[in-house]
This record gives sequence, C-alpha cells and structure tokens, in this order.
Amino acid sequence: MRIGLDSEKSSVSIRMRTLFGLKEVAKVGVNVEEEVVKKAVEALASAMRDDPSSLVKHEAAYVLGQTENPLAVKYLEGTLSDIGEDPMVRHEAAEALGAIASPDCVEILERYGSDEEQVVRETVEIALMRIAQKSGEKELTTTEHPIYKSVDPAPALNESDGVEKYREMLLNRKLPLYDRYRGMFSLRNLSSTDPRAVQALCEGFVDNSALFKHELAYVLGQVQSPDSVKALSKVLFDQNEHEMVRHEAAEALGSIGTRETNEILAGFLKDKADVVRESCEVALDITEYNQSDQLNYADTISR
Ligand SMILES: [Fe+2]
Ligand SMILES: [Fe+2]
Repeated sequence: MRIGLDSEKSSVSIRMRTLFGLKEVAKVGVNVEEEVVKKAVEALASAMRDDPSSLVKHEAAYVLGQTENPLAVKYLEGTLSDIGEDPMVRHEAAEALGAIASPDCVEILERYGSDEEQVVRETVEIALMRIAQKSGEKELTTTEHPIYKSVDPAPALNESDGVEKYREMLLNRKLPLYDRYRGMFSLRNLSSTDPRAVQALCEGFVDNSALFKHELAYVLGQVQSPDSVKALSKVLFDQNEHEMVRHEAAEALGSIGTRETNEILAGFLKDKADVVRESCEVALDITEYNQSDQLNYADTISR
C-alpha cells in the first residue's frame, strides 16, 4: 500500500489504482477491522494532502467521498479550507463532503458558498442541495442503479420515457445546477436503452460552467458509448477549455477504449497541462485494465 502511493517509486497510474483499492477497505459497511479502516482513510488523506500531482490529490478526495466514511470529514475540511490548493482538488473535497453528508458537513460547506473559485462555489451549492434533499426525502434512493454504482451529487429520476424531458432539464441554463445534474444522471441511466440520451449529453458541452462540463465528461465515461468519442475529443483538443474538463474528457475516452481513442490519447501524452498529460497516461491504463480480464473500473474514476 505504502509503495503504491509513493510518488518516488510508483507512476501516476499505479497511485491511482492504489487509491481505488483503498476505497474498498475504507468504505462504510465493509467487514474489515476498525483499525484497518482508519489506516486506509488516513492513507487516502495523506495522498490528498501530500501527493505532488493534483490529479492524484483530487482522486484521493473523490475516493474519500465515495467511501461515505465520516472519518474522512476532518481531512476533507482541511483540503477545502486550503485556498492555496488547486481548485480542482478543493472542488473534489467539497463534493466528497456532500457525498458523506453527515450533519457537520453542512456547516463546513456553508462557509464556502461564496468562495472565489467558481468550481468550488458551484460544487458547494450542489452538495448542500443534495444533503438537504437527502435529509428531507427518501427520493435519493433513486441514485442506486444496477450499472452505475457511484455515489452521485444529484439523484436521477426514473421515468423510462423521459429522454426529452431530461434533455430539457440538462440544457436549461435557467435551472439550478442541481436540477440540471438530475437531468444528466437521468439521461445516463437511460443511455443503454436509448441512444438519444447519449446525444443529449453531448449537446451539453456548450456551456459556461466548467464544473457542469466536467461532470458531463465523467458521465460519458461511465456510459462508455463510442457515439460520444467525437464530442469528448473535441473537448480534449480545445486548448482553451478548462483543464479540469479536458482531464475528465481524457479519462472518459480511456473508459471507452477503442483503437481511435488510444490514438487520440497518445497524442496528448506531452500536453502542456500536467493534469491533462497525466490523465492521458491514466486513461490509457484504464483502457488496458478494462481490456484485461480484470474488473471494469469505469465507476471508480473520479468526476
Ligand atoms: Fe470533479
Ligand atoms: Fe476528475
């Protein structure tokens, strides 16, 4: 475990894989000794704080959220409060607090509702709405899906004929981001039976919010449809796009994993932005991993 997270000895891809392994131990409800769970949470927290790569740091924050383990709250608070930290990492810490959703998370998140960074502000807004809804209603249970196991920032709705309605929710910039996210996750859930859902998701890339676009790329990575390769590569090729969005597009292409995506990703292994370059390396590793007989880890990659 130690070696897996040691940046001097292990590549970014190995460190990312190690984080996913730790998630299985740190997750709430697993049958593992308390002391071991605590150690796994601490190892994730030190990767989030000390790894030299923002990509690994933000992934560690994401994994801490996916564990839904309240032991992670104090560490996530530390990262969110560090204004010198990469906004992508702080965003992921805020989102993780929304996923854990213990009572103290609300008070912490509320302090960052007017943060200088748009991606942090928007994440806080969505996370607080998720927690409010979770404590008020049972509706959040609809996030459980047989294919997509991630803990999502907003629950999907479940109308089997709702593609048009969800597309409208997704693209309507007058709606709160939380509702647009609900449209997004609802489209994701319909994507295996209705190709119009993938098309609608791809339409969303014309938007002002980097957060919204990075989430779209994440969702398309979960869907793994070759129909989204064109839209995702357009994002990756756009040097003016926010690097958080380009990073997510690269990893989504890795999850789709065709010869075409391999070629595209290989072309960005020397990208100027560290987070994009490293994401392409990880994306090619995802493809390789998914194509070997190992478990598919589309759901484990962070948003
Ligand atoms: Fe994210
Ligand atoms: Fe990400």
